Amino acid sequence: MRFATRAVHVGEEPNLKEGGAGDVVVPVHVSSTFARAEVKRPTGGYEYSRTSNPTRRALEEKLASLEGAKHALAFSSGMAAEATLCLSLLKKGDHVIAFDDLYGGTRRLFTETLLKFGLDFDFVDARRTSAVEAAIRKNTRMVWLESPTNPLLKLCDIRGIAKIAKEKGMVTVVDNTFASPYFQNPLELGADVVVHSATKYLGGHSDVVGGALVLSDDDVHKKVRFNQNSVGAVLSPFDCFLVSRGIKTLELRMERHAYNAQRIAEYLEGHSKVKGVNFPGLRSFPQRSLATRQMRGPGGVLSFVFMEGARETERTLRKFKVFSLAESLGGVESLVEHPASMTHASVPRTEREKLGISDSLVRLSVGIEDIEDLLSDLERALG
Ligand SMILES: Cc1ncc(COP(=O)(O)O)c(C=O)c1O
Repeated sequence: MRFATRAVHVGEEPNLKEGGAGDVVVPVHVSSTFARAEVKRPTGGYEYSRTSNPTRRALEEKLASLEGAKHALAFSSGMAAEATLCLSLLKKGDHVIAFDDLYGGTRRLFTETLLKFGLDFDFVDARRTSAVEAAIRKNTRMVWLESPTNPLLKLCDIRGIAKIAKEKGMVTVVDNTFASPYFQNPLELGADVVVHSATKYLGGHSDVVGGALVLSDDDVHKKVRFNQNSVGAVLSPFDCFLVSRGIKTLELRMERHAYNAQRIAEYLEGHSKVKGVNFPGLRSFPQRSLATRQMRGPGGVLSFVFMEGARETERTLRKFKVFSLAESLGGVESLVEHPASMTHASVPRTEREKLGISDSLVRLSVGIEDIEDLLSDLERALG
């Protein structure tokens, strides 16, 4: 089955057996516990909803299918998924190499939460595979990548890095939130674990916070599943339903997000008040050939550098009417944000400046509205 068909049907096949109701949508199983007929045999394998729940199971099957994986696990947020993965695969004394341009919350998890537990992190410019290779130490256990990154849309060669990591026995993790499984499948490129903030394109409607890990290795799955139950940061049945429902239109939405974002990126590139645009769909994008090699489309997020300073950038951000000034991304509605004071405020200023997250950087999550309305809004705001 092709992508759009799997997105609609996997995990939600109607139960036509005797006693089944034939629901075409998986029911929201709100029960926190499940009765059994025999002491030692949980009914249908379900005992307690933190451990396992039929609505969550349905979503996990769908997610695994979309990433071409054997297993998926749904969490209460992207950060919960990330933290549980690290707790499952790392131990005191281990070293992790991470892309230096990561979502601010991921960097905070590493440098402020996990550092305390005796883990060590190096942040490198993973656009150069050689920089990742040079950072490898005897105790390096994991390489953590985002591609495209948040908020500068930098890419890394997932296949090249995963190959080196595999040779050294290290796990490659790719946060695939920006591309979504519709535009990129990191496991097919050799990565071991895919991370999603399901809050973004998977949910797609800015009405749910969720996360996921997708992977094929049975041993890693066993460890993560054990800790998912042990830590308990699971996605609620209703939220699983919302993410499943969102995924059914993922292909349609991603096509429209990408079309609108392409038109906006081209418009901004020609604007006299814009210094530069970061978007993998532009011909001028510095990593264009890598983008076409490992992605099937550019996604719907872009960032640009405004010609004016911090104060004028802030004033401009307040002028948008169709774009809402808000954090997050990947919903049907367009959002504009200021990474330096919003999503990446937790990254120290010196580090932000080194990476290119200046006070004049603006990030757009382009929604699925009519492109003419979005362009008019930009025109009015940029004045
Ligand atoms: C790329 C990326 N990864 C992970 C996260 C964390 O996800 P959540 O907010 O669902 O915890 C975010 C949130 O913005 C993100 O943008």
